[in-house]
Amino acid sequence: MREVNVIFVFVLYFSIDDLLTHCVDATCPGGFTLFRGLCLTLSNQTMLSWPNALGTCQDLSGTLLTIDNAQKQKNVEDFITDHYNASKRVLDLPPVYQYHYIDELSTYIRQEKYIQFDIKGCNDAHSILSEHRNDSFSSYEIVIGGWGNTQSVIRDCKQCISKATASHSPLSCTEFRPFWVSWGSGTIRVGEGREVGTGTFMEWSDPASHPVNFLGISSWNTMMSWRYFKDPYNSNFWLAGSDLRHHGQWEWFPEEDFVVFENWLPDQEESQQHSPTRHCMQMSLYDNFKWVADNCMQNRKFICEHLSTSKSPFG
Ligand SMILES: *[C@@H]1O[C@H](CO)[C@@H](O)[C@H](O)[C@H]1NC(C)=O
Ligand SMILES: *[C@@H]1O[C@H](CO)[C@@H](O)[C@H](O)[C@H]1NC(C)=O
Ligand SMILES: *[C@@H]1O[C@H](CO)[C@@H](O)[C@H](O)[C@H]1NC(C)=O
Repeated sequence: MREVNVIFVFVLYFSIDDLLTHCVDATCPGGFTLFRGLCLTLSNQTMLSWPNALGTCQDLSGTLLTIDNAQKQKNVEDFITDHYNASKRVLDLPPVYQYHYIDELSTYIRQEKYIQFDIKGCNDAHSILSEHRNDSFSSYEIVIGGWGNTQSVIRDCKQCISKATASHSPLSCTEFRPFWVSWGSGTIRVGEGREVGTGTFMEWSDPASHPVNFLGISSWNTMMSWRYFKDPYNSNFWLAGSDLRHHGQWEWFPEEDFVVFENWLPDQEESQQHSPTRHCMQMSLYDNFKWVADNCMQNRKFICEHLSTSKSPFG
């Protein structure tokens, strides 16, 4: 198997096209855009399953994106930031304690079991994680920056006693601050920042947990603004990583080089990398470009790369 690959790579690198590309100049072949030494395809709205994305890139005599070092990860992040719109929604809530369910995120919430959002407001950002679209029944309530922005709590129902508490001043009256909430396996976690699983400040495991199907948000006695990705799935891109050959062992396809440099989303590492249903790697602007193992048959955006300018056969 390995020997066949070596020959394949050899032929690929020394094909006439590649030699010409190297000898003539460092521009990219048709359909690819040069970005910091990488030849990448620009977006269109096409979304494909992982196998189809891989095949489409090969039809263009390229590959799906492989990320084998931190510098390339950074370059790809910048490319996506420059070339793709991440449409964000801002909701301004009146100074009233009343939950607004965000229905456009319901599918995402049910599948991913976490959410990231930015909040601007002086105090009391309330959110509710409900099984039904009813905040009085089977709901976890999370208060960020309550009690005059001095304390946050997790509750197992609306206005019930706290199950977890943090003493801090997380909110700002004038600028958006990033937060995330996750509830996988019945453990409610709340943290600061855009990386789900990092910066946790509260955590509580419900011994009798209920599913979360709806997310509601509310303010208390001041105006608050909430900001989130309108369509989080639209900012996901397939990478060439997969563990389809050996479950739990991630490789870059089609070369089958092992994934050595890693950038997995922290909270997901164990559960997703060994998941029975998630064998293909994607990264999302939404998750701060961390990698997530995903169901290969989901339709996602993707970027193809032409390797001739990024990898020289002469080292
Ligand atoms: C979008 O990408 C697909 C697949 O690469 C290609 O077939 C199609 O022509 C592209 N459309 C546009 C408008 O570029
Ligand atoms: C991004 O949004 C702007 C303004 O809405 C639009 O003109 C542009 O075509 C969009 N770019 C992409 C890559 O979707
Ligand atoms: C919400 O749940 C409460 C408590 O179970 C119930 O009394 C109420 O009728 C429910 N409201 C709706 C709109 O279903």
